[in-house]
Amino acid sequence: MLACKPYYETHLGRAYLGDCLRIMRQLPDDSVNLVMTSPPFGLAFKKEYGNPDSDDYVEWFLPHAREMKRLIKKDGSIVIDIGGAWKKGNPTRSLYQFKLLLTLCEEVGLHLAQDFYWFRPAALPAPAEWVAVRRIRVKDSVNCIWWLSKTEWPKASNRNVLQPYSKDMIRLLQKGYRSKLRPSGHFVTPKFMSDRGGAIPPNLLQVGGNESNSHYLKACGEAGLRPHPARFPREIPEFFIKLTTEETDWVLDPFAGSNVTGEAAEFMNRRWIAIEIRKDYLEGSLFRFEEPELFRSASAR
Ligand SMILES: C[S@@+](CC[C@H](N)C(=O)[O-])C[C@H]1O[C@@H](n2cnc3c(N)ncnc32)[C@H](O)[C@@H]1O
Repeated sequence: MLACKPYYETHLGRAYLGDCLRIMRQLPDDSVNLVMTSPPFGLAFKKEYGNPDSDDYVEWFLPHAREMKRLIKKDGSIVIDIGGAWKKGNPTRSLYQFKLLLTLCEEVGLHLAQDFYWFRPAALPAPAEWVAVRRIRVKDSVNCIWWLSKTEWPKASNRNVLQPYSKDMIRLLQKGYRSKLRPSGHFVTPKFMSDRGGAIPPNLLQVGGNESNSHYLKACGEAGLRPHPARFPREIPEFFIKLTTEETDWVLDPFAGSNVTGEAAEFMNRRWIAIEIRKDYLEGSLFRFEEPELFRSASAR
């Protein structure tokens, strides 16, 4: 798909080392089903890989967004995990992720298919000054995830992301339910109470902390590589890959970090492209593709 040589490749994917804007520009129009990514956030407290300032964030992100839009197919999706940020030196919040969303829809012409919120129960009480020392704010433990699309009808099926029914729902399914008007004004008919194989999930995703004893972490330790400092858990890309793509579709992560997206895509038999600007992160990410357990079960699916 690309003229330049990948840093590594697997059965289904390729990881490229370099600036994602430059590399995305070499990819053909309408070639990707899903862009699944977590770009550097507009943080006042910078990570080791550098973060744009929240004040300049929208301007910085815009050329990337235009490329993403060009690359996705007509029924494709762009999913952006983006955390909020505190303003520097005072206990109030930046609006940068909301400004980004407005600009992506109003200027770039993307559609907001749905807004998601990722609840991270294990988030640290930071910034310590406002949360743990002065105790005037609470923990910031929700990331926004903007699901955007090129048209109003991106490919999607919530049948692929059903969750186990709650105990109450299982009881209702077993006992049956009398149709009645709910206080909310909704009339719940027996049709709603048939077993459809699982519950339709909400747009609030509760996913705990990162892997703490994975092969990736162990192998990074043994190789003397620092694990990526801002990984998302595999459940996040997995959810959106299942929701918006089918087997053998193309998934792109232009800010790949430790390439969790590529790992999730490979596991679910999707083709993938990952781009990361730091060689040490890509080097570490290679360990994700040598875990025998993972790929034994992947090939058995
Ligand atoms: C929030 S991290 C992504 C973490 C990733 N989701 C994971 O779970 O490992 C953002 C990544 O974008 C990379 N990055 C920043 N600017 C970039 C650029 N212009 N091209 C490619 N990668 C870039 C950073 O080095 C960092 O690893």
